Amino acid sequence: RTNALRQIKTGDDDFGLMGYDPAFLNTANCKSAITFIDGDKGILEYRGYPIEQLAEKSSFLEVAYLLLNGELPSEKELQQFNHLVTHHTYVHENVKSFMDGFRYDAHPMSMVSSTVAALSSFYPDAKNIKDPLSRRIQITRLIAKMPTIAAFSYRHTMGLPYIYPDNDLSYVANFLAMIKRIGTSTYKVHPVLERALDILFILHADHEQNCSTTSVRTVGSSEVDPYSAVSAGIGALYGPLHGGANEAVLRMLRDIGHVSKIPEFIKSVKSGEGEKKLMGFGHRVYKSYDPRAKVIKRVADEVFEVTGKNPLLEIAVELERIALEDEYFVKRKLYPNVDFYSGLIYEAMGFQVEMFPVLFAIPRTVGWCAQWEEMVTDNEQKIARPRQVFTGAPRRDYVPMNKRA
Ligand code: ACO
Repeated sequence: RTNALRQIKTGDDDFGLMGYDPAFLNTANCKSAITFIDGDKGILEYRGYPIEQLAEKSSFLEVAYLLLNGELPSEKELQQFNHLVTHHTYVHENVKSFMDGFRYDAHPMSMVSSTVAALSSFYPDAKNIKDPLSRRIQITRLIAKMPTIAAFSYRHTMGLPYIYPDNDLSYVANFLAMIKRIGTSTYKVHPVLERALDILFILHADHEQNCSTTSVRTVGSSEVDPYSAVSAGIGALYGPLHGGANEAVLRMLRDIGHVSKIPEFIKSVKSGEGEKKLMGFGHRVYKSYDPRAKVIKRVADEVFEVTGKNPLLEIAVELERIALEDEYFVKRKLYPNVDFYSGLIYEAMGFQVEMFPVLFAIPRTVGWCAQWEEMVTDNEQKIARPRQVFTGAPRRDYVPMNKRA
């Protein structure tokens, strides 16, 4: 936790050192006071509070307030925040029309990313990023509208009419109702499932400088509006090596199909020279068990009590057991990450695999917004502009077309 950065530039005339560090393996891109991770010990803290305590005692919107403001809210502050978020859940009618234009088989994550980018055209005031009040309005809009846009993307793929937000419901229950409600029937959200999704949202709310957050910071450093920056984050999260991994895990478990096929699958991963991966395993920072995966395993048991067991659970548990004893995974410190079990819960709750990354993007919007605001208010922040090690041709003269080989 020290800020012991070595001085690599001694003055204005000194270019300093230029490191070559593709993928930022060993480079801090910013200073941040939001989330702390100790990857060796498996520790994750939001603003100093251990993730296990927040998952047990807190609610998603309380955690959102904490991440954005640095302190837990008082009862009154939480009520006000709840009220604010609840009353920004509606989207402009033209956003609906915009979403109508997507192909019937468009991936929901791609719809969400494009629609969030489109919000910048609905809220031109968002470009006032130096104005604290304007920043907070955009952040509230983003957090409030994400479940609505996410639910609309789902309804679009299913060919179902969009369901408008119900402001009497909690953040999570409202989202579930917009997904599940059919016709005029009222959808009663099971309290265990509501709490389970709330916990999953807490666990996914922030994770310091991961690929999508770095994208938000990088794009946001050009001082563009936060909708454009967050849309870039959603694009990054879409990839199978990041938030798309939970979808990939489910597909992998389905492909394996039966516990008897696991040894053959593990063998193919080990002999594939990195081509084939055990999805939901491994992490750039965690070199021990991902603390979020531990909480998710417990939540899975509670959800399956209500929904009945997901038949793929048996394969997942056995896969984990075999991998954790296998020298290949032990040597490389590959443990289950947050995505290994989350997909099983989402599937048991009735979500299609295509919705899994979207279920990640909704809560991560809070982290992206907190990190974006921290970045734009950081006096040391400049436009992100990495250097390169040039490997191309040396200077040469233009060759006319008729002289080219
Ligand atoms: N299955 C099999 N082998 C793996 C896996 C895996 N899931 N993950 C890493 N390895 C191997 C690599 O092939 C490499 O082996 P080598 O040393 O013989 O070349 C070694 O472990 C180190 O892996 P890297 O790819 O260098 O690790 P990196 O930090 O770059 O990647 C990542 C981390 C992308 C998460 C990787 O572990 C992975 O692809 N996992 C599967 C996808 C996944 O679950 N992603 C979700 C991450 S969590 C999140 O984004 C929310």
